[in-house]
Amino acid sequence: MRVLFTGGSGKAGRHVVAYLAAKGHRVLNVDRVPLGLAGVHDLIGDITDAGQMYSAMHSHAGFDEMETGLGAQTFDAVVHFAAIPRLLLAPDTETYRVNVMGTYNVIEAAVKMGVKKIIIASSETTYGVCFSDGVVDPKVLPLEEDYDIDPMDSYGLSKQVNEITARSFQRRSGVDIYALRIGNVIEPHEYETVFPPLATNPGLRRRIAFSYIDARDLGQIVDLCLGKNGLGFQVFNAANDTNSVPQPNTELLAEFFPNVPLSRPLGRHESLLSNRKIREVLGFREDHNWRRYVADPTR
Ligand SMILES: NC(=O)c1ccc[n+]([C@@H]2O[C@H](COP(=O)([O-])OP(=O)(O)OC[C@H]3O[C@@H](n4cnc5c(N)ncnc54)[C@H](O)[C@@H]3O)[C@@H](O)[C@H]2O)c1
Repeated sequence: MRVLFTGGSGKAGRHVVAYLAAKGHRVLNVDRVPLGLAGVHDLIGDITDAGQMYSAMHSHAGFDEMETGLGAQTFDAVVHFAAIPRLLLAPDTETYRVNVMGTYNVIEAAVKMGVKKIIIASSETTYGVCFSDGVVDPKVLPLEEDYDIDPMDSYGLSKQVNEITARSFQRRSGVDIYALRIGNVIEPHEYETVFPPLATNPGLRRRIAFSYIDARDLGQIVDLCLGKNGLGFQVFNAANDTNSVPQPNTELLAEFFPNVPLSRPLGRHESLLSNRKIREVLGFREDHNWRRYVADPTR
């Protein structure tokens, strides 16, 4: 597929773009800074500028496409990752403005320019635990897509609004728009630094419900979304199969979430940011469980 990807130069995007390119997709990266990946053209653009997004949506994906003489073409799909990716990077107003208006601009331009598949990066912070002030319990565990999300911070709120924007555009257009509630993204080089301390201090991951998503497995999830059609508006958690800490759920729940009800029985290490929906609906099978890269001290 010809894919316009926003934010492909970032921490998550660079791995997802590489995954999609390796799968044979033709990717145009739209970002404020270049990615510099062979075979992927960089278009320097700003998602907060609606005109730029409309223009980019109908574009050659590289100089080679000019050889066809067919003119600029609309893309088969848009994957929208560009954002201010957490709170406390910019003033709250700026986080909200860039994420909400940027996503509105990208989705409106995509829909009105005839794109039939749109995938947007939402976040597990929408569950209202991660960036809440104070130590907050989730209403229920595991975190699943039908949860009544209620973030109290500007970043989580921006992602919640983006899901509503996506749903609205899906209703009016009928195209497929899938929102990925992405967990904490782990790049390959991060395993050796992020994971070892968690054996003795799992509480470091309480705010993210102990979850994670390998950046390459996130690429697989996006690719599966590109290949799936006809689901309308969907929300999918994007997480690996197990928690990022070695302690079993019985210990984690007793120590960190003693008052939180469970909606169903849990596997011993099953991710509390549930990935059941991507496994059952998209056929996701993780390739990069953390135990491949870091010794599990409990084994
Ligand atoms: N990293 C995580 O753990 C995580 C978790 C959940 C959700 N997400 C979401 O995933 C997406 C990617 O996150 P990331 O960690 O790669 O962030 P990142 O900051 O590393 O990458 C974001 C990219 O967007 C670009 N960008 C920012 N503002 C832009 C603008 N106005 N116009 C064009 N490009 C712009 C940046 O240049 C950057 O390359 C974001 O939407 C983020 O909210 C990330």
